[in-house]
Amino acid sequence: MSDITVIGLGAMGSALARAQLKAGRSVTVWNRSPDKAGPLVADGATAAATAAEAVAASPITITCVKSHPQTTQILRNAANALPGKTIIELSTGSAAEAEELAEMIEGAGAEWMVGIINAYPHMIGDADTVLTVVGTEQQWAAHAPVIQALGGGSVHVGDQAGMLAALFAGLFTVRQGFMWGMIYGALACKKAGIGLQTFSDLVPISMGMMKPYYDYFAATAPTASYDDPPATMRTYAAALEDVLASFETLGARDDLPRLFVEMTHKGMAEGLEDKALTAVIDVLSRDG
Ligand SMILES: NC(=O)c1ccc[n+]([C@@H]2O[C@H](COP(=O)([O-])OP(=O)(O)OC[C@H]3O[C@@H](n4cnc5c(N)ncnc54)[C@H](OP(=O)(O)O)[C@@H]3O)[C@@H](O)[C@H]2O)c1
Repeated sequence: MSDITVIGLGAMGSALARAQLKAGRSVTVWNRSPDKAGPLVADGATAAATAAEAVAASPITITCVKSHPQTTQILRNAANALPGKTIIELSTGSAAEAEELAEMIEGAGAEWMVGIINAYPHMIGDADTVLTVVGTEQQWAAHAPVIQALGGGSVHVGDQAGMLAALFAGLFTVRQGFMWGMIYGALACKKAGIGLQTFSDLVPISMGMMKPYYDYFAATAPTASYDDPPATMRTYAAALEDVLASFETLGARDDLPRLFVEMTHKGMAEGLEDKALTAVIDVLSRDG
């Protein structure tokens, strides 16, 4: 018997297995292409011949393959070994795929946790690396040390298998908002003859406002505390209208700033002009 099994030894799965070895746990590994187990065996892991043998070898199995459906398939084939085990699924996938996997694991008499790794493989094991994990409170209490060996800043965020896909969509949208903001900013600058080197050098001015933007969001959105903000929806609307006018004058593609103006006007149309910009969440959430 081992302390932990790791199934899937790609770039990430190998890093996960290595971190468990480093944390002093005995580790059994299995990968579809068996050659990938070699370096881990050299580091002290035990290679299993089949996925079922790997699951049987430990009370806890970490799975990290291409995506949830591949994990589901692997575990279906290893169903005889599942009763009484805990599976910690760290592959990515959709909400529906995560729910299907959880259902299959429960049906086979095992327990599941699902996590998202917010890191590259070389960051696995670092104190500030974060895995966002769902599962029951009891599972988190029992298995947090295993998960925190992979990312010291890991957090438990709920108990529904499908929650992580929504959380990932939300967090990815935050950083993609920044990325697409830079891309559209570049469109306006190009039209105005401002070199992208100059624009790129000046983007950190906006990055300096990210923390105050976050503080504004955190102080208003979670508790719906929209009164007396440091900048009102009306103030943002005026600035966004000016931005849109600049895009129009320049002849730059303007659908992104236009979307910002239209959404802000929706909030204004509901009489929220003196509230925080984040009050628009309540308006827009009725659309979906
Ligand atoms: N790399 C990252 O930076 C990163 C960051 C966060 C999350 N993740 C997630 O971690 C997971 C693994 O990523 P990775 O970077 O390790 O990818 P990878 O290096 O491409 O490895 C993919 C792994 O999945 C296995 N696999 C693929 N299809 C399979 C199948 N049908 N049956 C059995 N095994 C199969 C591969 O086995 P073979 O060796 O036999 O092909 C390999 O072990 C993904 O869900 C990814 O989204 C990765």
